[in-house]
Amino acid sequence: MTPSRALTAPQQALLDLLGRCTLPLMAAPMFLVSGPELVIACARAGIMGSFPAANARNIEVLDQWMAQTRDSVQQGNAQAAWSMNMIVHSSYDRFDRELELVRKYQPHIVSTALGSPKRVLDTVHGYGGVVMADVTTPTLARKAADAGADALVLVTSGAGGHTGHYHPFALLAEVRKFWQGPLGLAGAISQGVDVRAAQLLGADFVLAGTRFIAVQESLADPEYRNLLVRSQLEDLVLTKAVSGVLANWLKSTLEQAGFTDAQLREEKKIDFSGDIVAAPKAWKTVWSAGHGVGAIDRVATVADVVAELRQGYARTLQAEQQALETLLPRYPA
Ligand SMILES: Cc1cc2nc3c(=O)[nH]c(=O)nc-3n(C[C@H](O)[C@H](O)[C@H](O)COP(=O)(O)O)c2cc1C
Repeated sequence: MTPSRALTAPQQALLDLLGRCTLPLMAAPMFLVSGPELVIACARAGIMGSFPAANARNIEVLDQWMAQTRDSVQQGNAQAAWSMNMIVHSSYDRFDRELELVRKYQPHIVSTALGSPKRVLDTVHGYGGVVMADVTTPTLARKAADAGADALVLVTSGAGGHTGHYHPFALLAEVRKFWQGPLGLAGAISQGVDVRAAQLLGADFVLAGTRFIAVQESLADPEYRNLLVRSQLEDLVLTKAVSGVLANWLKSTLEQAGFTDAQLREEKKIDFSGDIVAAPKAWKTVWSAGHGVGAIDRVATVADVVAELRQGYARTLQAEQQALETLLPRYPA
């Protein structure tokens, strides 16, 4: 983190929110996996959580979810914050009604997927909120920055769900050349050491998705959680065939759904119109995970996962301190 960087008020507000967390970590929004219970549990564990608005099966349910989340997140900790993820693609027909609810319930952070963050900026800035955009390439990062996003999240190679394809070292370095604002890193963050490594590379915070699927508070099917406990890196397949966008999927669920090798090489068209929850039926039977899946060894609570990550982070800092004593004399500037 650069102390002298010039930040806008929403950017500073985000760094302040993160600074009050027990780790600079957000539980990433996940389709059909994250809901209010997960986000509220995150707040209780001292980190920020997020759910995709599209997880609520209709706008009335979303209204209830947002009311419940807003009211529960700050119980016991007035400083706690929450985030909601919105599809901003032009073919997503619930967008306007969701934006109305954003105005009503004012999540601290709104993150945008599949399009320009511009569509939510005025509304979110109007109540003092922060707009965060997920990007996978330097070009998309520039576009999101030009569109006025307050923070960028680099979704890198190995991420669960719709993944990026660039290595985190290289993507972070390229984006940091033109972006001094808050920067998050996502993709295979599953241990405390990963959080620290991301900071050393120049990220301000991280998002972890896969690590929060096999928690008791997620909406994931119990068999999905158990499968994650049993799975390792090599149990994943990278393909565009399921949703039209490059994503990592658990091989055994692709096989059960009857995907052939030829189909896995296919590219489908993106279409988010219609009923977003019923339409991508694939996500219900074919399950996604990121490269960090091997770190999951049991179904736990959000509090357990956060405690484990915090311990790992603290151990990393201690190891770093010891390493400085031996490494600095060996490798002086
Ligand atoms: C099952 C699953 C569903 C996801 N759904 C969404 C989504 O609806 N919107 C979104 O912006 N990102 C989604 N993501 C991506 C996550 O927000 C995050 O970028 C990713 O999980 C980070 O990589 P990791 O899983 O390796 O931690 C999803 C990820 C997973 C694993």
